[in-house]
Amino acid sequence: MRVSITEIKEMKQKREKIPMLTAYDYVTAKVVDEVGVPLILVGDSLGMVMLGYESTIPVTMEEMLHHTKAVVRGAKKALIVGDMPFMTYHTSISDALHNAARFIQEGGAQAVKLEGGEVVAEKVRRLVDCGIPVMGHIGLTPQSIYQLGGYKVQGKTSEMAKKLLKDAQILEEAGAFAVVLECVPAALSKLITEKAGIPTIGIGAGPDCDGQVQVISDILGLYTEFVPKHAKQYAKLAEGIKAAVTDYVTEVKSVSFPTMKQSYTMDESLLDNL
Ligand code: KIV
Repeated sequence: MRVSITEIKEMKQKREKIPMLTAYDYVTAKVVDEVGVPLILVGDSLGMVMLGYESTIPVTMEEMLHHTKAVVRGAKKALIVGDMPFMTYHTSISDALHNAARFIQEGGAQAVKLEGGEVVAEKVRRLVDCGIPVMGHIGLTPQSIYQLGGYKVQGKTSEMAKKLLKDAQILEEAGAFAVVLECVPAALSKLITEKAGIPTIGIGAGPDCDGQVQVISDILGLYTEFVPKHAKQYAKLAEGIKAAVTDYVTEVKSVSFPTMKQSYTMDESLLDNL
């Protein structure tokens, strides 16, 4: 059985921290799942770290579904959250429902995530009423970078802090089962976490959130074009891959790869009459 939203909510009550990671493909999702990560996000960050876009804005529903299906095939236990791309839920409640349903029916995800607070509350309520679990996402919402003026910490003025707290409360009232706080000062995240009845999942939001989420390519040192301050590299896979590929190229050129160990044999006398 997969992890349920009830179990995720219970983790907050039990003060058990909730680790969450992104995954975008079968192999990585399988490893993350085998480690026991209870929540996997197929984030629209895949646009940047898998597809090489400059931001998450160009990501389409078809791309998200393609990757979500692969993650669902790889992870058998974790609850999988599909990230709704830019403008697939803003235009109308009916568009939000249609696209969220695609994540569940076609993609095989168990929940969706959408960015925004009060502005998306009506949509959140409708999705939840129709049986689709929703994770909120406030603070730095990358789909709004043009409006926000870049990837900046949010909630540093008392007015913005008040707005973020209100947004978290509105999302909870609308039925969201958890809320991501991205790039929010640690003290404000602590306050929101204390006041919220649902788990807060931080990314660049300090240690007091109920859970933490990271982009897997950041923590593995795979995506090195930009390493956010909030990411810790637990490995340096880009360097490891570069070293391995360099060795491979050298060995192919010097004919030290392949050897007979990597080759297939046959009865060579069969070749005599050819
Ligand atoms: O797309 C993503 O990976 C995200 C996380 C940063 C929360 O939304």
